[in-house]
Parts: sequence; C-alpha cells; structure tokens
Amino acid sequence: MKIDILTLFPEMFTGVLSASILGRAAAADLLTVETHNIRDYSTDKHRKADDYPFGGGAGLVMMAQPIFDCMAAMTGEGPAHRVLLTPRGAPLCPDIAKRLANEEHLVLLCGHYEGVDERVMTIIDEEVSIGDYVLTGGELPAMVLVDCLARFVPGVLGGEMSTEEESFVNDLLEYPQYTRPADFRGLQVPEILLSGHHANIQAWRRSQAEEKTRQIRPDLLYK
Ligand code: ADE
Repeated sequence: MKIDILTLFPEMFTGVLSASILGRAAAADLLTVETHNIRDYSTDKHRKADDYPFGGGAGLVMMAQPIFDCMAAMTGEGPAHRVLLTPRGAPLCPDIAKRLANEEHLVLLCGHYEGVDERVMTIIDEEVSIGDYVLTGGELPAMVLVDCLARFVPGVLGGEMSTEEESFVNDLLEYPQYTRPADFRGLQVPEILLSGHHANIQAWRRSQAEEKTRQIRPDLLYK
C-alpha cells in the first residue's frame, strides 16, 4: 500500500514513520509512506501557500493552486483515494480505518491555519477527523490515521498481535492483561488466569471487558 501525505510541515513526520511497527512495515515494503511539501508546488515567487480569507476574518487559508498541483503530481500515475484531515470530517473509527487500509493508494491532505480553500473539496473524496477538538493542523491527525489503518494492513502486525481482541471490537473496551511475575510486590494476578482453563478464562475476560466498558464508556453499551 502507498500513502502520500501532503503537508506544509513534512519534518513533523520523520520519527513517527521510521520507528516501531510503522518503521518495520516500511522496511518490509508492506507500507510506503512519503511526505510532500505543498509549498514546493506553489507558483508564487515567494512560495506562498496561504492567504487572507475573502470576506474577512482571522487567520490564513491554504490556497487552492499549490494543493491542486501537488495533488495532480500524486495522482498522475493512476487513481488514488484522497482524504482531507479536518475537525469537520467524519470521526475516525475502526470501520473507517479498515476500509482505508484496503486502498492501494491513499493521499492524505493536512489542513492548516483556518482551513483550506473550499474549492479543494472538488479533488477530495472524504474528510476525516480524529476527534471533537481542534489541533493546530492535520499533521498529527494524519499520523494517527496512518498508525491506525496500518494495523489493518495484512502482515503489518505479524503473528504476535491481533486486531480481533482489542478495545472497540464488539463495542467493548479491552479486558485487563497481565504478564510475569504472578506476584509483583504483593500484587497478585487473578487466579483464574493461572488455571489453564481456557473456557473459564474467556468468560472472565468477557465479563471484565463488560465491567470496564460500563465504568468508563457506558455509551458504547447503548450503541
Ligand atoms: N485538524 C485540526 N484538528 C483536527 C482534528 N481534530 N481532526 C482532524 N484534523 C484536524
């Protein structure tokens, strides 16, 4: 899978994309992520990529021209699914991440300042938000989206992790996990996990997941 990220701040992505599971996915050619500086596509002699909003108001708006030309360079060799990261988008959830993980070629556009010229929407397929709060730009949301969808790309997680038994699957939070030692400074692991009785362990985990969800995210139970 190929992901191109259009941004005014490509330097923000370096550590995140090269470390841990994303770094391994890139090294294994499961996921190729490239960042592109929108400013490089500006036809303005000062490489301007933003300007004052028509009608007045605070802040700057990202201009259409550099984005159109940068997008054209990304999609020149074939179709791509184009996503704008913006607080007004659909809230990111596992279903959106899974669907996007099936795309051959994704282009992520990071909004900045007061937003992007609305005419850019004619070259965008969908808008995604990572939550009901406003960040200074779409860069962190793009990293969150890449990390979240990478987990659904076959081979990225390897055998040691799974997306089947984690929070939000079946609308439940994840059950508590423990590792060795069984007694840590007097804090004991629940006896049942040491019993080796698979069915009882499954039932315990289910009831723990329900209990955690009731306490912390009761809204999930009434979805
Ligand atoms: N840009 C600024 N805030 C954002 C958010 N919450 N989600 C996606 N993009 C954003």
